[in-house]
Amino acid sequence: MAQVVLENVYKSYSPRKGERAVIPVPAEPLLAQGNEIPQASDKSSPSSGSTNVLRRINLTIHDGEFMVLVGPSGCGKSTLLRLIAGLEELTGGNIWVGETLVNDLPPKERDIAMVFQNYALYPHMSVYDNIAFGLRRTSRVVGAGFTNQSPNPRDISLNPHRSAPAPVGEQFSNLAENMLVGMTRSLPKGLRYISDREKIIQERVLAVAQLLQIDSLLHRLPKQLSGGQKQRVALGRAIARNPQVFLMDEPLSNLDAKLRAETRAQIVKLQRQLGITTIYVTHDQTEAMTMGDRIAVMNQGQIQQIAHPLELYNRPANQFVAQFIGSPPMNFIPVQFQAPLLITHPLFRLTLPDIWERSLKKYDGRELTLGIRPEHVSLSLPAPKNLPVLVELVEALGNETYLSVRLGDTPLQVRIAPDRLARIGEQLMLAIAPEKIHLFDPETGSAIFAK
Ligand SMILES: Nc1ncnc2c1ncn2[C@@H]1O[C@H](COP(=O)(O)OP(=O)(O)O)[C@@H](O)[C@H]1O
Ligand SMILES: [Mg+2]
Repeated sequence: MAQVVLENVYKSYSPRKGERAVIPVPAEPLLAQGNEIPQASDKSSPSSGSTNVLRRINLTIHDGEFMVLVGPSGCGKSTLLRLIAGLEELTGGNIWVGETLVNDLPPKERDIAMVFQNYALYPHMSVYDNIAFGLRRTSRVVGAGFTNQSPNPRDISLNPHRSAPAPVGEQFSNLAENMLVGMTRSLPKGLRYISDREKIIQERVLAVAQLLQIDSLLHRLPKQLSGGQKQRVALGRAIARNPQVFLMDEPLSNLDAKLRAETRAQIVKLQRQLGITTIYVTHDQTEAMTMGDRIAVMNQGQIQQIAHPLELYNRPANQFVAQFIGSPPMNFIPVQFQAPLLITHPLFRLTLPDIWERSLKKYDGRELTLGIRPEHVSLSLPAPKNLPVLVELVEALGNETYLSVRLGDTPLQVRIAPDRLARIGEQLMLAIAPEKIHLFDPETGSAIFAK
């Protein structure tokens, strides 16, 4: 197991003919680890004149941690995973896996297993062979372990000498053995060639299959499996290799909603059991919130915030994170601020709690963006501090009801109790929970935190 460190990682693709060349951006000082909050206004380097796919990525994934990378489609998540796996070349920066700088190591020497969205199973191979595939390519197979007697999968190492490649002679005999195994596989059981090495692989495949409850499917071809089963085979193939790091790129997006929720929980449980450092990519904030030990929120090739799930929800670093984490997203209302604590809007005025006074001093007389989540307003009575809104859409889900309403020109989404019936066209008064207010600097989008 190992920690993974990304330091000042940049990626740009070489321009096609007629496009401007990308000038590599000079390294900038490392950000402090922990809850890193790069400036939201940090655009691509002025010197390059081009947009890099990834810019100044600094991220440490601790040994055994489940880190989720979340962001909208196209923000660079897959590119970052592919860089870690060694499937793309770095434009700048460093990547460490454990103590090893892997910048120039080919993928198979990085001791990393990747699970892709489309599963990438070999269609002509059985489930068994798909899972065994990575093991057969492994140079040394020593010690089986992964049996009923030793249920902890971490005890097992097929390849204890990870960094030492096998001598050429040994590689050749592995190849010959693999051929013999393949050639005799269709013969009756007693006539099949089974090497010691294959016996170890067999034990390992069976143990992984039991772990994932696919042991009854080992003889099937991928086309004879459902989406969820294929997904577990792909996971099994990764797990069987007992890598130092798992990379998973949207592995659940081809599953239906119910299976997705179930498999989500299974993956988290498995990861805890195996303790293997995992980097999991998704565009789905619910997946991120429910699975991650920590979450790195990305947008346009940059990390916006790295934090524990509830910290992202409670203290988003900027408006992007505020609207991306939480569903439905946070509402934003342009307001005027007057020191010490007065917020005014043409349709309401309210006084902020005292804790805001210090951090808002410099914003006296300026515009601010007030953020409030749909679940932090309530139906109330007319009062200067309450928001008069017009109901435009009612979504009653049974356990809760969401309303789309309008405050003057500003659309808002709010959650109300399911037993309160609301009608389209109805005028309502909304009270904001003052301790749940977020404020942002409208020029940078950065959050202002109460001190
Ligand atoms: N081989 C490539 N050549 C040029 N641009 C690419 C290449 N691969 C990805 N990109 C661009 O990089 C950006 C990030 O892509 P990707 O990492 O796949 O995003 P995500 O996985 O977050 O959806 C996108 O704008 C995409 O068009
Ligand atoms: Mg992707």
